[in-house]
Amino acid sequence: MVNLSVQIGALTLKNPVIAASGTFGFGREMQQWNELSELGAICSKGLTLNPRLGNDPPRVAETTGGLLNSVGLQNPGLEAFIATELPFMKSLGTTIIANIAGHSLAENVAMAEQLDATDVDGIELNLSCPNVSQGCMAFGSSAPMIEEVVSAVRAKTQKPLWVKLTPNVTSIAEMALAAEAAGADAVSLINTLLGLAIDRKSRRPVLRNNTGGLSGPAIKPVALRMVWDVYRAIRIPIIGMGGIMNGEDGIEFMLAGATAIQVGTANLISPTACHDVITNMSAIAQTENMAQISQYTGLLQPW
Ligand SMILES: Cc1cc2nc3c(=O)[nH]c(=O)nc-3n(C[C@H](O)[C@H](O)[C@H](O)COP(=O)(O)O)c2cc1C
Repeated sequence: MVNLSVQIGALTLKNPVIAASGTFGFGREMQQWNELSELGAICSKGLTLNPRLGNDPPRVAETTGGLLNSVGLQNPGLEAFIATELPFMKSLGTTIIANIAGHSLAENVAMAEQLDATDVDGIELNLSCPNVSQGCMAFGSSAPMIEEVVSAVRAKTQKPLWVKLTPNVTSIAEMALAAEAAGADAVSLINTLLGLAIDRKSRRPVLRNNTGGLSGPAIKPVALRMVWDVYRAIRIPIIGMGGIMNGEDGIEFMLAGATAIQVGTANLISPTACHDVITNMSAIAQTENMAQISQYTGLLQPW
């Protein structure tokens, strides 16, 4: 039997497969197809202080090998999450991570402070969001802005803090270094890549928001390259994602340097995707005589 557990700072996950934020809700709908206690962890839908209805439809569009979305952070708000969704999620028997996506430094700090007083297992700080006080530039697009927001959040919580990076930057390693310097326990990457889908006949963008975030198999090579870049730059663990559809993909992310992985878009194609990835990764490790799945991390041998 392969030991599937992995260590991310102080958190031990029973296996390296985590349901990615925004593709698993709060787990309620997914429990009819899955034994959710078998997952390594679940990341909640991105949370804001106040409830949000999200963007007008159409909010998703299929593209070649990928999915373009602009859901716009539809969520019930932090108070309702803490009162209703978190107790449900904590009853599932797996590690529960709250993904937060404030639109200002103060909003992120306030959410971290409130979550610190709950029994949530960790916080994933999504830095793809626009910082309204900085001309709506994404928090994650500048190293000084990352240092500022991560330090401020770090000061307010003892919980494990994962910083989720946007790939829409020139140097992802520089951004990861900033998160590490500011006290992150791990970095998660990648979030979606900015894209545009066009309806040629109407000559309009397909999405009502015009642009959206690209995910799915189309982004996997970009994500792998970024995980590898970051692995060679920082010392804290990496949670890798971007187009993981099966166990082979999951092992590839670990070879590139990920300690754990997240499965996102694949959940929208098959609701048992996370479970299937765990089974598949375990089978590969068994065939390759790996006693522990964690041994794969960083084994990539560059030419
Ligand atoms: C419909 C949809 C909604 C998403 N919502 C969030 C979100 O609320 N917060 C977040 O950090 N990432 C969000 N993401 C990004 C995913 O968590 C993940 O980083 C990205 O999709 C890449 O992984 P994948 O190719 O396996 O989907 C969303 C992705 C999709 C497809």
